[in-house]
Amino acid sequence: MMEELVARFNNLARLIDQPSVLVDQRGTVILANQGAFELLGQHIAGQSFEGFIRHPDFVSALHMALTQDQQTDLAYTRMEQVPRQFEIRLAPFDGKHVFIVLIDKTLEQSVERIQSEFVANVSHELRSPLTSLSGFIETLMGPAADDKQAHEKFLPIMQSEAMRMQRLIDGLLSLSRVEAEAHRPPSDAVNLRAIVDEVVATKSHMAEGRHMRISITSEWETAAQTPLVRGDSDELLEVFHNLLENAVKYGDEGGDIVLALSPGRDLAGATHDDRIRVQVMNSGPTIPPQHISRLTERFYRIDEGRSRSMGGSGLGLAIVKHILNRHRGRLRITSENQQTCVSVTLPIAK
Ligand SMILES: Nc1ncnc2c1ncn2[C@@H]1O[C@H](COP(=O)(O)OP(=O)(O)O)[C@@H](O)[C@H]1O
Ligand SMILES: [Mg+2]
Repeated sequence: MMEELVARFNNLARLIDQPSVLVDQRGTVILANQGAFELLGQHIAGQSFEGFIRHPDFVSALHMALTQDQQTDLAYTRMEQVPRQFEIRLAPFDGKHVFIVLIDKTLEQSVERIQSEFVANVSHELRSPLTSLSGFIETLMGPAADDKQAHEKFLPIMQSEAMRMQRLIDGLLSLSRVEAEAHRPPSDAVNLRAIVDEVVATKSHMAEGRHMRISITSEWETAAQTPLVRGDSDELLEVFHNLLENAVKYGDEGGDIVLALSPGRDLAGATHDDRIRVQVMNSGPTIPPQHISRLTERFYRIDEGRSRSMGGSGLGLAIVKHILNRHRGRLRITSENQQTCVSVTLPIAK
């Protein structure tokens, strides 16, 4: 009889492949599989299951499974260093026993939370330009329909709001493109010096507007002497485009921007010839350390108003980080003595 019970439990537990126990009418653990031992401890057999989970609805759920032949699910949070969320399912077994499965929902729920936060953020970012556009449209259709001055004043604002929405959507598309490629390492050999030269050329006009000078220094005299990295040139262009744009936007007006190429260096300062490092440096207010670690989060900005007025969406560094992850590269941001340095390290192609 007991043998048959054990065999049935084992078959079911193997099929379900989750931490599972069998309890009797009083809720005492009779059998458990390996997963349950690992989760709840090796000493659970013969103990009251309720003692391990302490759930206010456990007794009634047990009762339902025994008397009404009905499955009940309980949500349960296990307080560990990082709390874990479980779904506990109690299913009737044979009228005298109840089969209990503990399903770990932690990962699923954190993915869901991240997704819903993301949707909330995107909606928030889109709402304000949209509200402002609707307001202007209403004014131009109504009270200011024939007011030429109002047209001249409002239309450029409307255009810049529309462009803001466009940039946000472009950023989101970039981010999702990079995420989709995340697990496919890049295969081309790319010359970082050529990338840096190109990016500087396209940004120098913007820098002049803020009276800034961009210069490039390198341990390798020419592009031809610069070691190649394994990479995707469009993505790496996007990385340095974002970093240089940030230096121009957030650096001091009239300050110098330097892009420096050198062999990689670790935190202790030792050089590594298998990596190449590009530092993007600008002078500007020192970034407080509590911000630095969060700058690569989507939509994180130190000063939202300033970023907005500069045409930022807060996605640039998130995109940079994703691209570098795909490249097995590293990003490091330091800021001290009114000097900010964003440093990118990439492995040299063999
Ligand atoms: N070189 C820099 N100097 C100072 N702050 C910077 C620099 N680069 C980035 N930041 C800060 O990091 C934030 C996030 O940057 P980013 O992700 O590129 O978004 P965005 O530029 O769209 O605001 C910026 O809003 C700014 O506050
Ligand atoms: Mg940016």
